[in-house]
This record gives sequence, structure tokens and C-alpha cells, in this order.
Amino acid sequence: MTRKKHIDGTSEPTEDPREVAPAAKGNEKAWQAALRPTTFDDYIGQRELIDNLKISVCAAKQNGWPLDHFLFAGPPGLGKTTLAHVIANELGVNLHVSSGPAIDHKGMLASLLTSLGEGDALFIDEIHRLAPVVEENLYPAMEDFRFDLFIGDGPHAKAVTMQLPRFTLLGATTRMGLLSAPLLDRFGFHWQLRYYELPDMIAIVKRSAALIGITIDKEGAHEIASRARGTPRIANRLLRRVRDFAAVERDGAIDGDIASSSLDRLAVDHAGLDMLDRAYLSVICERFDGGPVGIEAVAASLSEERGTLEEVVEPFLLQVGFIARTPRGRVATAAGYQHMGLVAPPKAPSGGQGGAQGRLF
Ligand code: ADE
Repeated sequence: MTRKKHIDGTSEPTEDPREVAPAAKGNEKAWQAALRPTTFDDYIGQRELIDNLKISVCAAKQNGWPLDHFLFAGPPGLGKTTLAHVIANELGVNLHVSSGPAIDHKGMLASLLTSLGEGDALFIDEIHRLAPVVEENLYPAMEDFRFDLFIGDGPHAKAVTMQLPRFTLLGATTRMGLLSAPLLDRFGFHWQLRYYELPDMIAIVKRSAALIGITIDKEGAHEIASRARGTPRIANRLLRRVRDFAAVERDGAIDGDIASSSLDRLAVDHAGLDMLDRAYLSVICERFDGGPVGIEAVAASLSEERGTLEEVVEPFLLQVGFIARTPRGRVATAAGYQHMGLVAPPKAPSGGQGGAQGRLF
């Protein structure tokens, strides 16, 4: 069993999903951990990535060399953290978990790096949010397993180089475009995670239902999977909400009817759009006449953070072809208008083949 290390040096065993009593899964993080696959064979979807990782992990284990530094990019909920846990587990090494904003000064990075054991994996989530001074000090650590420290101040400062154990950095980002070229260069491999295909989403819903002891039929799994935006974390969240409806209003089992009516009541539509997604589309179509409109104007109209729109809302709307990005701003496509029940103006781009779900599912 792997151990998950915290940045304060304490550690805890990585949870085995089957060991977690349902009552203990009180919060979102605990649920995610409980449903997380722990091996490559358990992992559903992202097949090309998993096949590549299997080879690299196998080569590292066979030859006793540390795994190269890997970077995973993609919208939230697609499994970047899960992959780090799976890789560490498959390598049989400790996983140390931190994030860009948490490593807010050089000393914090030093303490994190010096707590690593030989061959350990260090996961840095939101790596695009590392402070520049921290990022610069990460380069020699990644390249030469070296950390340069200055002891004392001014003319009497002394440079000391610390040798670090060989480790693997696993980086995750929702904003690949914000990563500096020198940091990107130091990863042996980057991968953009894609939204999951419908059959994989159905398999994930069924697996999660089995793990938490929910009875679900084919139609129920299909309904939840098809409204979860190709995102396992959303599917697992919707599964729990539908389970609540099924428990209160039925005998606890989930079928297509209860899944469909619960998701309607939860304001998740057939394409998986929630209230924020629809508010975003409605602002572009109705207030800004279909665009082009700048992201700041949309964010101000919705009183939402620009980052939330860019990282969470837009990637999926672009994927399903409801919006398009142009040099002059965002535009609603004909498919986007149609989804909102509005008539598209002639200037609206088509939104690609099939529009909603066309490319994704
Ligand atoms: N739970 C969340 N993501 C998963 C995945 N990719 N495979 C299996 N179970 C999951």
C-alpha cells in the first residue's frame, strides 16, 4: 500500500476504496478518494495515456531508474490527481501531494523536496500557479536532483548545494497555456486529458455504484453518464444526488426514470449543462447578441470569476460546439442557440458536426 505524504511531513496510508465505510464518506474529497481507481487495470478510459504510462512505469521498474517527470493537463475532474495516485501505487513508491499555491516560498519548496525518499513521486496540482521564484528553484531539482540554498545575507551569504533523492515530479494543470516554456521543457512527457467517451462514462458510473452498494440498471447508468459532461468527478457527484432521490422517493434502486427526473430537478440538462453553463450561454446569446464578446464582459455580467469560466465552463461548451473562440472574443454557435431554444442569427457559426454531444458522445 502506498502512503500519501502531506507537506508538513506527516503521512497516511492511501485509502483502499473497499476499506472505507459508507458512513465515513462525509465530504467530497473523501468520496473522490473512495471511488478512485488504484491500478492501471482499474482505470477506465484515457486508454492511450494509460498504455503509455504502463510502458514507462514498467521500464522504470525493470531497470531501477526513476520515472521521468510527467505533466497532465485538462479541465477539472478528468483524473489528473487519480493518475498520480495510480502511478505511485504501480511504482510502489510514496506519493507526496501539494499544489502550486501551497508552495508559496522557496523554503516551503526546500522542505518538500528534502522530505522526499529515493524514487518517491511528488504531485503538484495547479502547477501553473507556482510563484516564479519557486518555479526557478524547481528547475535544478527536476534536472539534476539538486537544490541551491543561500545561507546568510548580503556579501557573507554562502551558497550551499543540497543533493536530493531521485524523484518523479507529477504536475497537473487546468491551464497548459499558462505554463512557462522552461518548466514545460523539463517534463519528459505532457498529456492533455480528454473528456471521456460515453461507454467509459457508463462503465465508471456502474463501477462507482457497485462500490457504494447502489443498484442501478442500464438506463439509469446511461442517463447519469450522458449528463455528466464526459467528466468522472461529475458523474460520481450526480450518482450520489440521484441515489438520494431514489432512496427517498423509491426503493433506493436507480433506473432511467428516477435518474432522468432527478437530474431534471437538479437543473442538469440533457447535454449536461448546469445553471452556470446555461447562464453563460444565455448572456452571450441574449445580452451580447451572440458575440463576439470578451471574457471579462461575460464574467462581469455573471458576477463570476473569469478563471472559473475559462477553466470549468468554456472547455466543455467548446467541446460540444455551443461556443467558439475568435480573435475578437467568444461567439455563440447555431448549435448553442438551438440548445437554449433560441433562434440563431444568420451570422452564428454552425458549431461543428452534430453540435451537442455530436463530437463528445
Ligand atoms: N472513478 C473516477 N474516475 C475513474 C476512472 N477513470 N476509472 C475508474 N473509476 C473512476
